[in-house]
Amino acid sequence: MRKPIRHNNGKEKRTVIDLRDALAQWPSVASPCMTPCSTLALSSRLRPLCAALALALGACAQPGTTATQGDPPWQSLMPTALLLVGEVHDAPEHQALQAQLVSALAQHGRLAALVLEMAEQGRHTEGISPSASEAEVRARLGWDESAGTGSWSWETYRSVVMAAVRAGVPVLGGNLPRSQLRAAMTDPRLDMSLDPAALDRLRARMREGHCDLLPTHQIAPMARVQIARDKAMAHTAQTALRAERSVVLIAGNEHVRKDMGVPLHLPSGLPFKVLQAAPASSAQPLGQSDAVWRSPPRQETDHCAALREQWQSRLPKVQ
Ligand code: HEM
Repeated sequence: MRKPIRHNNGKEKRTVIDLRDALAQWPSVASPCMTPCSTLALSSRLRPLCAALALALGACAQPGTTATQGDPPWQSLMPTALLLVGEVHDAPEHQALQAQLVSALAQHGRLAALVLEMAEQGRHTEGISPSASEAEVRARLGWDESAGTGSWSWETYRSVVMAAVRAGVPVLGGNLPRSQLRAAMTDPRLDMSLDPAALDRLRARMREGHCDLLPTHQIAPMARVQIARDKAMAHTAQTALRAERSVVLIAGNEHVRKDMGVPLHLPSGLPFKVLQAAPASSAQPLGQSDAVWRSPPRQETDHCAALREQWQSRLPKVQ
């Protein structure tokens, strides 16, 4: 789903750390920390402590397993250098989960940075005081709800953002600056950054996601915008990698898909995991990820009816 983003005058000051250095310091998937507490020869006094530590650090679960009830849904995916967290933008349970994730990792010194689709690339809170006001944080991130229809609501994301800021963890805008949208639409090189199957998939999602209302000639330019956004987020996440810590990227579910989105623009060998969140009532296709967390069912609205009404008099401004 499209969300407007604002002009960015900030300069990105982060240093890109050598990926090989970062990866060399990451424990292998076969780390002893992956051993479930129940299988360790621990006294009954130490076993609860082990379980509590595993839960808190999110570091002692087997990758690929389904989280059992009560486990945080990210637990089976950790540790990883980059955790991509997909969401439905208007599901408050998803942002609540993200705030818990950010707090849990930050409390244990495991969070390298929080990267957001909701702020433009180049915007960041680096160097800000952990006690900074929300107004200051918003100014640094260029979070301006008056920028137009569909602006990201600060109220929706404030708990996630402020959890990172209060813990002294940088928050980085990851989205393509709005000033670059038009250039992206007309840049055919972006088509080449996906293999033909993934490009077809993305264009099909673009068509379906907009309820078959888009004229055919607008599909390719809009898919390019999506690709440019995915590339911007992938690049921003890489600049934030830190040894033995995780970067958390929060974006819409379409952006984090392993068969279409940000993962396809990451360097090979970078350890990452994808967690998607979706209401149990949602019929939207999610694509590939490592785990899906289902929030409680809700009354789903007919977004096609809303889009049809919105676009009745005009189609999206894409030429
Ligand atoms: C719930 C479904 C969706 C709704 C209601 C929705 C709505 C919209 C709206 C209102 C616009 C702006 C048109 C304008 O400025 O006049 C837009 C643009 C866009 N949408 Fe969606 N969309 C949906 C699904 C998707 C999906 C599935 C994708 C990607 C696969 C996507 C990617 C985009 C892109 C790249 C643009 C153009 C750039 C921009 O203005 O942000 N959308 N969408």
